[in-house]
Amino acid sequence: MSQIIDGKLLSQNLKEEMRDSMPSLKERYGRVPCLAVIIVGDNPASRSYVRGKIKAAAFVGMDSRLVELPETVSERELLEVIDSLNGDCAVDGILVQLPLPAHISEDRIIDAIDIRKDVDGFHPQNVANLWLSRPCTVPCTPKGIMAMIESTGVPIPGKKAVIVGRSNIVGKPVAKLLLDRNATVTIAHSRTADLAQVCREADILVAAVGRAEMISGDMVKAGAIVIDVGINRIALPDGSSRLVGDVDFESASKVAGYITPVPGGVGPMTITMLMANTIECFLRFSGAC
Ligand code: GUN
Repeated sequence: MSQIIDGKLLSQNLKEEMRDSMPSLKERYGRVPCLAVIIVGDNPASRSYVRGKIKAAAFVGMDSRLVELPETVSERELLEVIDSLNGDCAVDGILVQLPLPAHISEDRIIDAIDIRKDVDGFHPQNVANLWLSRPCTVPCTPKGIMAMIESTGVPIPGKKAVIVGRSNIVGKPVAKLLLDRNATVTIAHSRTADLAQVCREADILVAAVGRAEMISGDMVKAGAIVIDVGINRIALPDGSSRLVGDVDFESASKVAGYITPVPGGVGPMTITMLMANTIECFLRFSGAC
């Protein structure tokens, strides 16, 4: 039976540390960090994520601004909002909740955020800096995943890491971060031949494909660290539903050494790392304003 990597507990401890640091930030800089979150439209999942982000900011004692825009907002209007937040010296981080409505180019919106306030780490200059091993803002989910792997105390250098999924937000940046820690990294995906065999070789297995319970116990190496990034809602025969990950927890937890649950694993860590990134941007750049 594996040890559970409790993302909720880890993230609670980290948020408490951040909360405890706020009075000294306030004393030294005259204010606390401020995160601006922009949400467009009424997507229930996005609304719920944004609520979690604002709640976490309040918990750690930083300021936040919530900008709610209608589904019909034009790209130009959204760009104007970003421009105004870019120029606002009291705002340290800007997050535009994705996805955006189809009439707005996500690329143009991300490109418009001042890189110094890009707390998601999605701006192409931040992505370039990450891949060049220059100072950068590391995207929140990959940063949370690394913290969870590190929390096991298992040394990463020399380990075989397999990431299933090649998204810009998770798969690719996690691969780079593991490479930086001297893991031997494979990025697997939907076209990978014999995925089960590739996964079975992993000392560290990161599942970020968005397919409910596709990684089963027979694809996991005994003792491996298994990080489940998936959040999938599946319907149950009685008409209700439940959240599951990309890993079949029941079978995988019998084989893995360490495993993250869903919910209560990567999800809370992502939000906590957003708080950490906002504080980092505040510390790195607020003097430049
Ligand atoms: N939508 C889903 N995940 C994310 C995220 O990490 N950042 C933003 N901005 N939007 C998201």
